[in-house]
Amino acid sequence: MTQKPTLIITGSSSGIGKAATLRLLEAGYHIIGISRRAGQFTHADFQAIDMDLAKPDELPKKLEQITAQHSQIDGIIFCAGSGRFGSLEEFSYQQIRSVIDLNLSSQIYLTRAFLPILKKQNSGDLIYIGSEAALSGGKRGAVYSAAKFGLRGFTQALRQECASNNIRVTLINPGMVRTEFFNTLDFSPGADTSNAIEPQDIAEMILSVLKMRPGTVIDEINLSPQKNVIRFGNK
Ligand SMILES: NC(=O)c1ccc[n+]([C@@H]2O[C@H](COP(=O)([O-])OP(=O)(O)OC[C@H]3O[C@@H](n4cnc5c(N)ncnc54)[C@H](OP(=O)(O)O)[C@@H]3O)[C@@H](O)[C@H]2O)c1
Repeated sequence: MTQKPTLIITGSSSGIGKAATLRLLEAGYHIIGISRRAGQFTHADFQAIDMDLAKPDELPKKLEQITAQHSQIDGIIFCAGSGRFGSLEEFSYQQIRSVIDLNLSSQIYLTRAFLPILKKQNSGDLIYIGSEAALSGGKRGAVYSAAKFGLRGFTQALRQECASNNIRVTLINPGMVRTEFFNTLDFSPGADTSNAIEPQDIAEMILSVLKMRPGTVIDEINLSPQKNVIRFGNK
């Protein structure tokens, strides 16, 4: 029996990460899901790791335990993240740190932990979920954009660093996607199907990136809802 290719997906419990998990299980991958509620999802080819990625001081030790158990990883899909928006002085210092820790530092730490395995096997896909906020800054988005612009710079540099090891680095930058992301925010996409990307659309993109012929890298993908309608206030 041939072993199924194995992918790590962060944020597998909800939204984009959950849609990617379901699509890639269907496509025949073995998935290791990481999030605080990863264990809620069960499937014969799914392994859950409950972990809080917003605690960077605890990550190196926990990641070391995972890398020790996995010598073959075919790719990592970084979907865990959350948004917090407001003018800068509305953020406490702790809130600034927490946005950066989850949306930027944890992605760098996780990459750092698994890169030796990918380099040793001389292959792998690293797929990060950025945002339209990685491409241009907007009102009330200074801290979130700082994290997402940082992630974009990180992926551009990493792509060059990893090319000689046949590791491909991709950044996907969506506009509004209809997920739980908006549950804690004071705005959300309009109700029409053209007002938001569906998480399944991003899952299809991820599968296309993985299926691309070895030797070609999809550097970045930008997606938007066809009609950008934002609802403010209570839903
Ligand atoms: N939705 C949008 O409009 C949109 C647009 C552009 C970019 N994005 C980006 O897309 C990514 C996924 O967002 P989404 O829309 O799918 O949101 P979502 O439905 O809220 O899912 C977020 C995922 O991140 C995980 N997560 C959150 N905090 C975590 C923590 N401290 N430790 C570990 N896992 C954590 C959550 O799992 P647990 O709660 O189980 O921990 C959940 O699985 C994020 O990076 C976001 O910035 C979203």
